[in-house]
Amino acid sequence: MNIAILPLSDDKKKAKCADESKLGFGRLFTDRMLLVEWKTGEGWVDGRIEPYGPFSLDPACSVFHYSQEIFEGLKAYKWADGTITLFRPEMNARRFNQSADRLCMPEVPEDIFIGGIEKLVSLERDWIPSSEGTSLYIRPTMIGVEPALGVKPADHYYFYVILSPVGAYYSAGFNPIKIMVEDNYVRSVPGGTGEAKTGGNYACSLKAGLEAKKKGYDQVLWLDGVHKRYVEEVGAMNMLFAYGKTIVTSPLTGTILNGVTRDSTLKLAASLGYTVEERLIDVNELMADVRSGKVTEAFGSGTAAVISPVGVLAYKGEDYMVGDGGVGAITRQLYDTLTGIQTGRLEDRFGWVRK
Ligand code: COI
Repeated sequence: MNIAILPLSDDKKKAKCADESKLGFGRLFTDRMLLVEWKTGEGWVDGRIEPYGPFSLDPACSVFHYSQEIFEGLKAYKWADGTITLFRPEMNARRFNQSADRLCMPEVPEDIFIGGIEKLVSLERDWIPSSEGTSLYIRPTMIGVEPALGVKPADHYYFYVILSPVGAYYSAGFNPIKIMVEDNYVRSVPGGTGEAKTGGNYACSLKAGLEAKKKGYDQVLWLDGVHKRYVEEVGAMNMLFAYGKTIVTSPLTGTILNGVTRDSTLKLAASLGYTVEERLIDVNELMADVRSGKVTEAFGSGTAAVISPVGVLAYKGEDYMVGDGGVGAITRQLYDTLTGIQTGRLEDRFGWVRK
C-alpha cells in the first residue's frame, strides 16, 4: 500500500526530552503517527503518516462500548554507529493478526504493519534515544470505529501506530521488584481472550493491581482461572524461574500471551547451555521451592520491561524472598545478552534484528 506523508508544520513539532534518564515509560510521544483505515467492501484505504494528535470519534463507536481493540508493543533502537533497528517485528505482526482474528477484526497485511512502522520510525529517527536502557517504544493499535450500538463486529476500523521514547518500564529500573500472587481475581480462562493482546485483559487487571500496590507490591502474578493453582503470567510480562541451571516457564496453553521476549529469552537461554522447561507450575510447589532455595532466581520478560528481576513473591499474605532478594547471575546474563543483541553490542546469531 502507498502510505502518504502529510506535512508537519513547525508548530506541531514537540520538544524532545533533554535528559534521557528522565524518560520513564510511555508519557512522551513523537511528532507523527501512522493511520490506515479499513472499511467493509473497500479493505485497507487512506494510509497516511500525519502529525500526532487526537482523533475526533463518534461517541457511539464500537471501541468505546464493546472494547473492540487490540494492540502490540515492540521497540526500535539506535545503535552506536547510527543504524536503526527493529527487534523481531514479524512476530508482533503475526500475534497482532491472531489477536485481530479473536476480536473479529480485519487482518493487517505485513506490508502495512511492518512497512508502515519502518516508514514512520525512519521519519521519526531523531526521536530514538540512544543512552543505555532507552529505546523507541512502538505501539500499533486497532480500534473499531463504526458508530453503532448493536453488538457485532464494526464495519470500519482504524489501524494506527504511535511512538514513544522510553526508559525503564518499572521505576525501579533493573532492580528486583515485588510480585504478589493473586488468588482472588482471575485474568483469563480457557476459551477466553487471555492469549490476545486486547485492552480488556488489561482493564480487568487494574483492580487486582491497585490492591497489590496498596499492600506494597509492584504487580500481580496471575494463576489459572479454573483451579487458581497454576502460575500463568504477570500481565505486563511472562514469568520465568531458575532452578539452578534449569529455566522453567508456563506453557502456551491459550490463556497467556505468547511473548516475543519470552520466546527470545528461552532460545537465548538454551543457546547459553541452560535447560529450558515449559511446563505447568503448581503455585504451592513453586512457593515451597522458593522457600527451600530450589528456585534460585525469578524474573519477568516483556517488550516494555525486557527482563525484570523479581526479589520477592508474596502468596496468601506471606512474603517469600527469591534467592538473596537481589539480581541473580542468570537474570543479569540474559538481560545483558538480550539487550546486547538488541542494541548492536553483541552479534545477532538468531536473525532477530531487522535493520
Ligand atoms: C509490552 O511489554 O509491550 C506490553 O505490552 C506490556 C504493557 C502493557 C506495557
